[in-house]
Amino acid sequence: MQLIDGKGIAEQIRVEITNATEQTVRAGDKPPHLAAVLVGHDGGSQVYVSNKIKMCQSIGFRSSLIRYDNDVAEQELLRRVHELNNDSDVDGFIVQLPLPKHINEQKIIEAIDYRKDVDGFHPINLGRLFAGLPCFVPATPAGIVELLKYYSIDICGKNCVILGRSNIVGKPLAVLLMQKGADATVTVCHSRTPNIAEVCRRADIIIAAIGQPEFLKAEMVREGAIVIDVGTTPLPDSTKKSGFRLCGDVDFQNVAPKCAYITPVPGGVGPMTIISLMKNTLAAAKKEIYRS
Ligand code: GUN
Repeated sequence: MQLIDGKGIAEQIRVEITNATEQTVRAGDKPPHLAAVLVGHDGGSQVYVSNKIKMCQSIGFRSSLIRYDNDVAEQELLRRVHELNNDSDVDGFIVQLPLPKHINEQKIIEAIDYRKDVDGFHPINLGRLFAGLPCFVPATPAGIVELLKYYSIDICGKNCVILGRSNIVGKPLAVLLMQKGADATVTVCHSRTPNIAEVCRRADIIIAAIGQPEFLKAEMVREGAIVIDVGTTPLPDSTKKSGFRLCGDVDFQNVAPKCAYITPVPGGVGPMTIISLMKNTLAAAKKEIYRS
Protein backbone atom coordinates (compact mmCIF):
# COMPACT_ATOMS: atom_id res chain seq x y z
CA MET A 1 0.00 0.00 0.00
CA GLN A 2 1.34 3.41 -0.95
CA LEU A 3 0.07 6.55 0.71
CA ILE A 4 -0.64 9.35 -1.78
CA ASP A 5 1.13 12.40 -0.37
CA GLY A 6 -1.16 15.25 -1.40
CA LYS A 7 0.49 17.57 1.10
CA GLY A 8 3.96 16.97 -0.36
CA ILE A 9 2.84 17.33 -3.98
CA ALA A 10 0.89 20.48 -3.17
CA GLU A 11 4.04 21.89 -1.56
CA GLN A 12 6.06 21.22 -4.74
CA ILE A 13 3.42 22.99 -6.83
CA ARG A 14 3.28 25.80 -4.27
CA VAL A 15 6.99 26.48 -4.89
CA GLU A 16 6.39 26.46 -8.67
CA ILE A 17 3.52 28.95 -8.37
CA THR A 18 5.57 31.17 -6.06
CA ASN A 19 8.34 31.29 -8.68
CA ALA A 20 5.86 31.99 -11.49
CA THR A 21 4.34 34.81 -9.41
CA GLU A 22 7.77 36.30 -8.75
CA GLN A 23 8.45 36.26 -12.48
CA THR A 24 5.14 37.99 -13.20
CA VAL A 25 5.93 40.71 -10.68
CA ARG A 26 9.49 41.11 -12.01
CA ALA A 27 8.04 41.58 -15.48
CA GLY A 28 6.12 44.57 -14.10
CA ASP A 29 2.67 43.01 -13.61
CA LYS A 30 0.70 43.17 -10.39
CA PRO A 31 0.57 39.94 -8.36
CA PRO A 32 -2.64 37.93 -8.82
CA HIS A 33 -5.50 39.03 -6.54
CA LEU A 34 -8.05 36.51 -5.17
CA ALA A 35 -11.09 37.66 -3.22
CA ALA A 36 -13.16 35.31 -1.05
CA VAL A 37 -16.68 35.93 0.19
CA LEU A 38 -17.57 34.12 3.42
CA VAL A 39 -21.08 34.17 4.87
CA GLY A 40 -21.74 33.12 8.48
CA HIS A 41 -19.62 31.28 11.01
CA ASP A 42 -19.64 27.64 9.91
CA GLY A 43 -16.48 26.10 11.41
CA GLY A 44 -15.50 24.16 8.30
CA SER A 45 -16.03 27.07 5.89
CA GLN A 46 -14.07 29.45 8.13
CA VAL A 47 -11.09 27.09 8.20
CA TYR A 48 -11.21 26.44 4.43
CA VAL A 49 -11.37 30.15 3.57
CA SER A 50 -8.69 31.04 6.07
CA ASN A 51 -6.42 28.36 4.53
CA LYS A 52 -7.04 29.82 1.05
CA ILE A 53 -6.16 33.33 2.26
CA LYS A 54 -3.03 32.06 4.05
CA MET A 55 -1.97 30.22 0.89
CA CYS A 56 -2.34 33.45 -1.13
CA GLN A 57 -0.05 35.21 1.33
CA SER A 58 2.52 32.42 1.20
CA ILE A 59 2.82 32.48 -2.61
CA GLY A 60 2.85 36.24 -3.07
CA PHE A 61 -0.76 36.69 -4.25
CA ARG A 62 -2.90 39.54 -3.00
CA SER A 63 -6.09 38.49 -1.23
CA SER A 64 -9.27 40.04 0.16
CA LEU A 65 -11.67 38.43 2.62
CA ILE A 66 -15.22 39.76 2.53
CA ARG A 67 -17.31 38.58 5.48
CA TYR A 68 -21.03 38.73 6.10
CA ASP A 69 -23.26 37.64 8.96
CA ASN A 70 -25.53 34.66 8.42
CA ASP A 71 -28.57 36.92 7.92
CA VAL A 72 -27.13 38.89 4.98
CA ALA A 73 -29.76 39.63 2.30
CA GLU A 74 -29.45 37.91 -1.08
CA GLN A 75 -29.62 41.37 -2.70
CA GLU A 76 -26.56 42.54 -0.76
CA LEU A 77 -24.61 39.46 -1.78
CA LEU A 78 -25.60 39.96 -5.42
CA ARG A 79 -24.57 43.62 -5.20
CA ARG A 80 -21.18 42.57 -3.84
CA VAL A 81 -20.71 39.95 -6.57
CA HIS A 82 -21.40 42.63 -9.22
CA GLU A 83 -18.93 44.94 -7.51
CA LEU A 84 -16.24 42.24 -7.61
CA ASN A 85 -17.11 41.49 -11.26
CA ASN A 86 -16.43 45.15 -12.08
CA ASP A 87 -13.35 45.60 -9.89
CA SER A 88 -10.44 45.50 -12.32
CA ASP A 89 -8.07 45.02 -9.39
CA VAL A 90 -9.58 41.59 -8.58
CA ASP A 91 -8.50 38.78 -10.92
CA GLY A 92 -10.73 36.07 -9.51
CA PHE A 93 -13.08 35.46 -6.61
CA ILE A 94 -15.00 32.73 -4.84
CA VAL A 95 -18.16 32.65 -2.75
CA GLN A 96 -17.63 29.92 -0.17
CA LEU A 97 -20.41 27.33 -0.14
CA PRO A 98 -22.72 26.32 1.43
CA LEU A 99 -24.69 29.56 1.77
CA PRO A 100 -27.53 30.02 4.29
CA LYS A 101 -30.87 28.54 3.24
CA HIS A 102 -32.55 31.90 2.52
CA ILE A 103 -30.02 32.59 -0.25
CA ASN A 104 -30.40 31.04 -3.69
CA GLU A 105 -26.93 29.57 -4.18
CA GLN A 106 -27.38 29.00 -7.90
CA LYS A 107 -28.44 32.62 -8.42
CA ILE A 108 -25.24 33.81 -6.71
CA ILE A 109 -23.06 31.44 -8.76
CA GLU A 110 -24.67 32.58 -12.01
CA ALA A 111 -24.12 36.25 -11.06
CA ILE A 112 -20.34 35.70 -10.96
CA ASP A 113 -18.53 36.79 -14.14
CA TYR A 114 -17.40 33.44 -15.61
CA ARG A 115 -14.03 35.04 -16.46
CA LYS A 116 -13.40 35.57 -12.71
CA ASP A 117 -15.04 32.30 -11.60
CA VAL A 118 -11.86 30.60 -10.36
CA ASP A 119 -13.99 27.96 -8.58
CA GLY A 120 -15.28 26.89 -12.01
CA PHE A 121 -18.87 26.60 -10.74
CA HIS A 122 -20.54 28.96 -13.27
CA PRO A 123 -22.63 27.09 -15.88
CA ILE A 124 -20.43 28.55 -18.64
CA ASN A 125 -17.32 26.99 -17.11
CA LEU A 126 -19.12 23.71 -16.34
CA GLY A 127 -20.56 23.65 -19.88
CA ARG A 128 -17.15 24.29 -21.42
CA LEU A 129 -15.67 21.52 -19.26
CA PHE A 130 -18.42 19.22 -20.55
CA ALA A 131 -17.53 20.17 -24.14
CA GLY A 132 -13.78 19.72 -23.58
CA LEU A 133 -13.08 23.45 -24.06
CA PRO A 134 -10.60 25.59 -22.06
CA CYS A 135 -12.25 26.71 -18.79
CA PHE A 136 -11.70 27.09 -15.08
CA VAL A 137 -11.86 23.51 -13.81
CA PRO A 138 -13.32 23.06 -10.28
CA ALA A 139 -10.41 22.77 -7.86
CA THR A 140 -11.11 19.44 -6.16
CA PRO A 141 -11.56 17.38 -9.36
CA ALA A 142 -8.54 19.14 -10.90
CA GLY A 143 -6.49 18.32 -7.79
CA ILE A 144 -7.51 14.65 -7.91
CA VAL A 145 -6.48 14.31 -11.57
CA GLU A 146 -3.15 15.98 -10.72
CA LEU A 147 -2.56 13.50 -7.87
CA LEU A 148 -3.15 10.54 -10.20
CA LYS A 149 -0.74 12.07 -12.74
CA TYR A 150 1.97 12.60 -10.12
CA TYR A 151 1.86 8.92 -9.23
CA SER A 152 1.77 7.93 -12.94
CA ILE A 153 -1.51 6.11 -12.31
CA ASP A 154 -2.85 5.32 -15.77
CA ILE A 155 -6.65 5.52 -15.78
CA CYS A 156 -7.11 4.63 -19.47
CA GLY A 157 -9.80 1.94 -19.70
CA LYS A 158 -9.94 1.66 -15.91
CA ASN A 159 -13.17 1.21 -14.01
CA CYS A 160 -13.55 4.42 -11.97
CA VAL A 161 -16.39 4.57 -9.46
CA ILE A 162 -17.29 8.00 -8.07
CA LEU A 163 -19.42 8.09 -4.93
CA GLY A 164 -21.39 11.35 -5.01
CA ARG A 165 -22.92 13.47 -7.77
CA SER A 166 -22.34 17.03 -6.51
CA ASN A 167 -21.80 19.90 -8.94
CA ILE A 168 -18.55 20.66 -7.09
CA VAL A 169 -16.88 17.23 -7.17
CA GLY A 170 -18.76 14.19 -8.51
CA LYS A 171 -20.16 15.53 -11.78
CA PRO A 172 -17.12 17.55 -12.97
CA LEU A 173 -14.78 14.72 -11.93
CA ALA A 174 -16.80 12.23 -13.98
CA VAL A 175 -16.38 14.50 -17.02
CA LEU A 176 -12.62 14.90 -16.47
CA LEU A 177 -12.01 11.16 -16.05
CA MET A 178 -13.98 10.17 -19.15
CA GLN A 179 -12.47 12.88 -21.38
CA LYS A 180 -10.41 11.86 -24.40
CA GLY A 181 -6.85 11.44 -23.17
CA ALA A 182 -7.96 10.33 -19.70
CA ASP A 183 -10.22 7.60 -21.12
CA ALA A 184 -11.58 6.03 -17.94
CA THR A 185 -14.87 4.14 -17.78
CA VAL A 186 -16.82 6.08 -15.19
CA THR A 187 -19.69 5.05 -12.91
CA VAL A 188 -21.29 7.65 -10.65
CA CYS A 189 -23.12 6.33 -7.58
CA HIS A 190 -25.51 8.34 -5.40
CA SER A 191 -28.09 7.95 -2.68
CA ARG A 192 -30.51 6.09 -5.00
CA THR A 193 -27.96 3.63 -6.42
CA PRO A 194 -28.73 0.03 -5.42
CA ASN A 195 -25.91 -2.33 -4.39
CA ILE A 196 -23.22 0.35 -4.04
CA ALA A 197 -20.95 -2.19 -2.33
CA GLU A 198 -21.08 -4.46 -5.35
CA VAL A 199 -20.40 -1.59 -7.78
CA CYS A 200 -17.41 -0.53 -5.66
CA ARG A 201 -16.00 -4.07 -5.53
CA ARG A 202 -15.70 -4.00 -9.36
CA ALA A 203 -13.77 -0.70 -9.32
CA ASP A 204 -10.11 -0.21 -10.11
CA ILE A 205 -10.34 3.31 -8.67
CA ILE A 206 -12.87 4.56 -6.12
CA ILE A 207 -13.33 8.26 -5.42
CA ALA A 208 -15.43 8.84 -2.31
CA ALA A 209 -17.12 12.25 -2.26
CA ILE A 210 -20.41 11.87 -0.42
CA GLY A 211 -19.66 13.60 2.87
CA GLN A 212 -20.52 10.59 5.04
CA PRO A 213 -17.74 9.81 7.52
CA GLU A 214 -16.16 6.38 6.94
CA PHE A 215 -18.84 5.31 4.42
CA LEU A 216 -16.45 3.17 2.34
CA LYS A 217 -15.73 -0.04 4.24
CA ALA A 218 -13.08 -2.70 3.58
CA GLU A 219 -15.61 -5.23 2.23
CA MET A 220 -16.57 -2.74 -0.53
CA VAL A 221 -13.01 -2.58 -1.90
CA ARG A 222 -11.15 -5.18 -3.94
CA GLU A 223 -7.49 -6.03 -3.27
CA GLY A 224 -5.19 -3.67 -5.17
CA ALA A 225 -7.74 -0.90 -5.71
CA ILE A 226 -6.87 2.80 -5.66
CA VAL A 227 -8.93 4.86 -3.21
CA ILE A 228 -9.23 8.66 -3.22
CA ASP A 229 -10.97 10.18 -0.20
CA VAL A 230 -12.58 13.59 -0.73
CA GLY A 231 -14.50 13.62 2.56
CA THR A 232 -13.78 16.34 5.12
CA THR A 233 -16.58 16.15 7.66
CA PRO A 234 -15.66 18.15 10.75
CA LEU A 235 -16.22 16.03 13.90
CA PRO A 236 -15.90 17.47 17.43
CA ASP A 237 -12.46 16.77 18.93
CA SER A 238 -11.47 18.55 22.13
CA THR A 239 -7.78 17.62 21.67
CA LYS A 240 -7.56 19.91 18.60
CA LYS A 241 -7.01 23.67 18.80
CA SER A 242 -9.88 24.26 16.35
CA GLY A 243 -12.19 22.01 18.41
CA PHE A 244 -12.71 19.52 15.57
CA ARG A 245 -10.94 17.03 13.35
CA LEU A 246 -11.63 16.27 9.70
CA CYS A 247 -13.04 12.82 8.99
CA GLY A 248 -12.88 11.27 5.52
CA ASP A 249 -15.50 9.21 3.66
CA VAL A 250 -13.27 6.12 3.89
CA ASP A 251 -12.79 3.77 6.85
CA PHE A 252 -9.08 4.32 6.36
CA GLN A 253 -7.76 1.93 8.99
CA ASN A 254 -9.49 -1.09 7.47
CA VAL A 255 -9.51 -0.06 3.78
CA ALA A 256 -5.85 1.04 3.48
CA PRO A 257 -4.27 -2.46 3.85
CA LYS A 258 -6.21 -3.65 0.75
CA CYS A 259 -5.21 -0.72 -1.49
CA ALA A 260 -2.43 -0.23 -4.01
CA TYR A 261 -2.71 3.52 -3.32
CA ILE A 262 -4.85 5.55 -0.93
CA THR A 263 -5.11 9.21 0.08
CA PRO A 264 -5.13 10.14 3.78
CA VAL A 265 -7.41 12.71 5.43
CA PRO A 266 -6.03 15.22 6.14
CA GLY A 267 -3.05 15.59 3.79
CA GLY A 268 -4.53 13.97 0.67
CA VAL A 269 -7.02 15.75 -1.58
CA GLY A 270 -7.47 18.86 0.63
CA PRO A 271 -4.08 20.53 -0.03
CA MET A 272 -4.46 19.79 -3.76
CA THR A 273 -7.83 21.57 -3.82
CA ILE A 274 -6.30 24.77 -2.43
CA ILE A 275 -3.34 24.63 -4.79
CA SER A 276 -5.64 24.09 -7.81
CA LEU A 277 -7.59 27.21 -6.82
CA MET A 278 -4.28 29.12 -6.77
CA LYS A 279 -3.44 27.78 -10.24
CA ASN A 280 -6.81 28.98 -11.52
CA THR A 281 -6.22 32.40 -9.95
CA LEU A 282 -2.81 32.70 -11.62
CA ALA A 283 -4.39 31.67 -14.95
CA ALA A 284 -7.11 34.31 -14.42
CA ALA A 285 -4.52 37.02 -13.70
CA LYS A 286 -2.55 36.05 -16.82
CA LYS A 287 -5.78 35.82 -18.85
CA GLU A 288 -4.72 32.38 -20.03
CA ILE A 289 -8.24 31.03 -20.45
CA TYR A 290 -10.31 34.10 -21.35
CA ARG A 291 -8.51 36.94 -23.13
CA SER A 292 -10.75 39.78 -21.99
N1 GUN B 1 -17.42 24.44 -0.41
C1 GUN B 1 -16.82 23.24 -0.43
N2 GUN B 1 -15.85 23.21 -1.37
C2 GUN B 1 -15.85 24.43 -1.95
C3 GUN B 1 -15.05 25.01 -2.97
O1 GUN B 1 -14.18 24.39 -3.58
N3 GUN B 1 -15.35 26.31 -3.29
C4 GUN B 1 -16.33 27.00 -2.66
N4 GUN B 1 -16.55 28.26 -3.04
N5 GUN B 1 -17.08 26.49 -1.70
C5 GUN B 1 -16.83 25.21 -1.35
